[in-house]
Amino acid sequence: MPSDPGTKPQSQGGDALNLASERARRYVQGVAERRVKPSEAAVAALANLREPFPSSPSDPSEVIARLDELGSPATLTTTGGRYFGFVNGGMLPAALAANWLAAAWNQNAALRVMSPVAAELEEVVLGWVCEALGLPPDCAGGLVTCATMANFTALATARHALLAREGWNVNEAGMFGAPPIEVVVGAEVHASILKALSLAGFGQKRVTTIEADSQGRMRKDKLPRLSKRSIVCIQAGNVNTGAFDPAEELCAWAHEQGAWVHVDGAFGLWARVSPRYEHLVRGFEKADSWATDAHKWPNAGYDSGLAIVRDGAALRASMGIAAAYLEPGSRREPMHHTPEASRRARGVELWAALKSLGRSGLCALIERTCAHAQQFARGLQEAGFAVLNDVMINQVLVSFGRPDVTREVIRRIQEDGTCWCAGTVWQGQSAMRISVSSWATTEADVKRSLASMIRIARECRAV
Ligand SMILES: Cc1ncc(COP(=O)(O)O)c(C=O)c1O
Repeated sequence: MPSDPGTKPQSQGGDALNLASERARRYVQGVAERRVKPSEAAVAALANLREPFPSSPSDPSEVIARLDELGSPATLTTTGGRYFGFVNGGMLPAALAANWLAAAWNQNAALRVMSPVAAELEEVVLGWVCEALGLPPDCAGGLVTCATMANFTALATARHALLAREGWNVNEAGMFGAPPIEVVVGAEVHASILKALSLAGFGQKRVTTIEADSQGRMRKDKLPRLSKRSIVCIQAGNVNTGAFDPAEELCAWAHEQGAWVHVDGAFGLWARVSPRYEHLVRGFEKADSWATDAHKWPNAGYDSGLAIVRDGAALRASMGIAAAYLEPGSRREPMHHTPEASRRARGVELWAALKSLGRSGLCALIERTCAHAQQFARGLQEAGFAVLNDVMINQVLVSFGRPDVTREVIRRIQEDGTCWCAGTVWQGQSAMRISVSSWATTEADVKRSLASMIRIARECRAV
């Protein structure tokens, strides 16, 4: 007998699940041939979502059908092989499938008592990630949304730890009147570090900025004197060039003076798993805290940031909370390691991604995407265009000439739909960024994308 959705709770929604699975499969099977940028008509049709708050319930299957009909066409095909925007990874099949299962579980990963499986998977993946990135095995960490939040978590912990050494409890006393802390960043610091610093009360303009070289690496000959009240933010993988700061020297110099070293390694740290690229990441393991993303190079899907701290007690002192109703566990409690309390069990997809790849699969992914980046750089140079960076890992910067021409080429490449890249300005020069970050990219994708880029760039130059 049909139920009245207005008065009864919804059923378990089996039909909606079947429909979602069918539509999702159709989407997944179509990505190889989809336009990367959605059509203007599909984006315009999103206006149909703007209805007043529905006054009565809808059938779950109808909800899913509408979502697919309006939503799917208006996505960027980031899971295909020809999306090279920002540093957005794709999503491995095991991660996607695990995400479906995890959604069915709907676990709250705040406390072990709320979800034993979420707590256990977090511990497992934190161990695996530390091993993969060459970090000390006894680090503590938290699973957060993104590298921005991971940077914030780590920098808030650094703030807590350095002030605690001065006898100042920042959780209780705040930053007003606290002993001053000096923060040092490179000139090509990622904007997320500056945001994290502002959230942590340091003030973006109060930082000391160290000159960078042509690839964005902090110049070690320009370092100021530090103290045990300094935080030095270094970078493993510049968002534009992929360059790595000279970590070995920077960590030695900072630690000699008692400073805290934080690494923004949103994507670059993962190069550590490859014997071919491992030398670039050497020395970063000597730092005190690290931020990285598993939704970038490891292709674990959104959202999957990790904050890792050498001194677990410092992380817990900064992030832990207490309340009478929160059962204190004798084992690691996830919520004492992150700014969030309630949150989804994002360790599930990360576990599935790393389990499905294994070390050799992750290494192959890293090396394959770097090889594709080289293929892009060679192809563009052979066609007469200037590659602005030393292509160390998976990032390529190409200029098509004057800034307005470069911008027009990018616009037309996006409109063409074969592939998708975004722009940047690198040390005063306009450029297009190609970030090869997806497991799904093949050599054929690179050739097809190169052909589209070169054809469009030549057309724009001819005008
Ligand atoms: C070096 C670096 N740090 C931080 C971030 C921010 O990452 P998220 O968007 O996950 O916060 C990025 C993003 O590309 C990055 O490349």
